[in-house]
Amino acid sequence: MTSGSDTSWDDKGVVITGAAQGIGAAYADRLAAEGARLVVADLKADGLQAVAERTHALAVPGDCSTSDGIRELVDRATEHLGDIDVWVGNAGVDAGQGLDADEAAWELSWQVNVLAHARAARLLIPRWLERGSGRFIVTASAAGLLTVLGSPTYAVTKHGAVAYAEWLAATYGAHGIRVHAVCPQGVQTDMLAGIDEAAAAIISADGALQPADVADALVDAVARETFLVLPHRQVADYYAYRAAHTDKWLRGMQGLQAKLDAASEKHTN
Ligand SMILES: NC(=O)c1ccc[n+]([C@@H]2O[C@H](COP(=O)([O-])OP(=O)(O)OC[C@H]3O[C@@H](n4cnc5c(N)ncnc54)[C@H](O)[C@@H]3O)[C@@H](O)[C@H]2O)c1
Repeated sequence: MTSGSDTSWDDKGVVITGAAQGIGAAYADRLAAEGARLVVADLKADGLQAVAERTHALAVPGDCSTSDGIRELVDRATEHLGDIDVWVGNAGVDAGQGLDADEAAWELSWQVNVLAHARAARLLIPRWLERGSGRFIVTASAAGLLTVLGSPTYAVTKHGAVAYAEWLAATYGAHGIRVHAVCPQGVQTDMLAGIDEAAAAIISADGALQPADVADALVDAVARETFLVLPHRQVADYYAYRAAHTDKWLRGMQGLQAKLDAASEKHTN
């Protein structure tokens, strides 16, 4: 990548975290098809190896949220790729429900969904400023622009992920650093399968996409250089409505919560 406005993926050195399955694996498939050279990382070594084999990537199993884990990933990726052109911080967790979300759930969400991005940027941005280019992509969520019922840990830390990405874009955008926040609603992955059925139905009311749709939206947004990547286009309207009509928007969310409560009562009776 020779300049901040180079939107081609061909021959770019790209790191993707959380790439053993779901959205991260779909990014790997799409970006490999676009000609990128990949390093993929995940806690799940087996799934990761399969993705690495089919995308001709280097697999770096391990924790992509800790300082040590990220440093090792950056070092190994730099050695393998020569230089890192694009970082895709995609690993994420949905831990903890409602008021009962405990300290461990809050801590894990904070480490993986927020601090991992800051730790990666701390290592990457100085080098990118030197050369005048680099692209930092965060898989956040529509929950980071709106909210999500059920999980305060997820809603809060995904807002943190969007806020961090915005801050990076505002601070370094004029120096050739490009930043994107990917904010889908429901996507058919293990994460969506793991949440309460009624909540999943509401989150998916606009249609749960396939992971490949999210990868397509990312490639499209990079080509258009838009900060927000919105695989569900209606999220832009909800986001504007929330800002302009906050109380009405909250009443709408209360209506959805009432539907969830009714569904879970029916389930327990
Ligand atoms: N599925 C959805 O509906 C949806 C919607 C919006 C945003 N997202 C976000 O998309 C991203 C990908 O999620 P997904 O839906 O593909 O879920 P997923 O659970 O299928 O994949 C997440 C991957 O991240 C890995 N991971 C988690 N913590 C890690 C860590 N500390 N170090 C290394 N790897 C780690 C997991 O092992 C897993 O392979 C997440 O950030 C998620 O919050 C998902």
